[in-house]
Amino acid sequence: MSQVLVASNRGPVSFSTAGDGSLVARRGGGGLVSGLAGLRGDVLWVCAALSEADRTAARKAPDGRLDEAGHDVGGTAVRMLDIPAATYERAYNGMANSTLWFVHHLLYDTPNAPCFDARARRDRQSYEAYNAAFADALARDAAPGAKVVVQDYHLSLTPAMLRERRPDLRIGHFSHTPWAPPEYFRLLPDDLGAELLAGVLGADQAGFLTERWASAFLDCCALLPGARVDRAARTVRYAGRVTRVGVHGLGVDGAALRERAAAPDVAERAAALRARVGGRKLVVRVDRTELSKNIVRGLAAYRELLTNHPEWRGRVVHLAFAYPSRTDLASYRAYTETVLRTAEEINAEFGTPDWQPLIVEVNDDYPRSLAAYRLADVLLVNPIRDGMNLVAKEGPALSDDGCALVLSREAGAAADLGEDALLVNPFDVSQTAEALHRALLMPAEERARRCTRLAEAATALPPQRWFSDQLDELK
Ligand code: F6P
Repeated sequence: MSQVLVASNRGPVSFSTAGDGSLVARRGGGGLVSGLAGLRGDVLWVCAALSEADRTAARKAPDGRLDEAGHDVGGTAVRMLDIPAATYERAYNGMANSTLWFVHHLLYDTPNAPCFDARARRDRQSYEAYNAAFADALARDAAPGAKVVVQDYHLSLTPAMLRERRPDLRIGHFSHTPWAPPEYFRLLPDDLGAELLAGVLGADQAGFLTERWASAFLDCCALLPGARVDRAARTVRYAGRVTRVGVHGLGVDGAALRERAAAPDVAERAAALRARVGGRKLVVRVDRTELSKNIVRGLAAYRELLTNHPEWRGRVVHLAFAYPSRTDLASYRAYTETVLRTAEEINAEFGTPDWQPLIVEVNDDYPRSLAAYRLADVLLVNPIRDGMNLVAKEGPALSDDGCALVLSREAGAAADLGEDALLVNPFDVSQTAEALHRALLMPAEERARRCTRLAEAATALPPQRWFSDQLDELK
């Protein structure tokens, strides 16, 4: 029985199968893992098995407890849930990533999608079963009165399900994505929309990364039959209980990040990048290739920069890291193809024998990303919509000589960094091209001054603080 429990789809460790058939554990990164790093005591992390190797590890461990099976999970107690593969696939790919992600990031091409039919109903049932599996595990493992923090859109129903099983618990839910405005949220079937809101409202505290997402959630709750929203107090009364709605921004751990970026593997990659760029100005972007990241419009903006400001030809290189994400989804694979095709077109149009204007890399290499942050003159972060976007914070925190940040106003990070970034409307390619031009022209002194302030803001809310604030809210 644990006093503090964390629940998330992706856990702090994943497995693969080695050539000899043995299981190899790999520690994951991300804000949640760092947030937990400083936490001492009796903490249990409940997550889903994401692959066949994970399922094998979960099955072999006593009751799914990986730490008790002797796996190296970095000192964290981890229970991995062996959810049937078909259920998991429909819950994760079908409902969470193809429906809820699209709703909260406003991604639908509405003349054609969404279409809530028999298949969508089946995905929804799987999502309910998957959320219930988490609620069951948490109910079984939580000590009386324990605190449980449930993470993200994968687990929107778990708080209410857990409340039903264990009314004694103090439950938090945290959304790492934006929340859709009511007009868009209403694309969902009415009963599904109500179920999702009621699910989150099962928590004592519903947390969001920015005021904007928190207030969109309150706006949706205002339309939920039976709910009473108090906007001033930021509370929702529903089903005889009150849920507080909180805002907890998330930044990066500056000291840990700088230490990692000072390692020899990063220096090696920085030297290789410098040689490739050859003294030209460097525009960098680093993304997981998600439809919300707006990589194609970013490339179109670079193309327009080279068209409208030919003085940059031969004097700038754009390095775009577009790492694979959710490759089970056809729309994500197609998006990567479009990114690569667009890059080829740009290189064919402007490239010369001694200048490649655009370099796109799709193989994920973390030390190379850190090296690019250190060297960038301009960092481009232009998502259609984003809960926060930590790239916008990592870049300035690591910059060697100061980088100018071109940032989408639709990223949560704009709330923290907006004063020193060059903000753009992510749909306005021409405006983004002009912002790149301005960023490239920015005098070194101004760039360094702005970057220092960006780095301060980026590191003001480290993951440890974000996580402990969530727990404090449940006191
Ligand atoms: O970036 C938003 C986010 O919801 C994170 O909180 C979460 O870790 C990630 O997306 C989920 O991505 P994946 O599908 O790769 O697990």
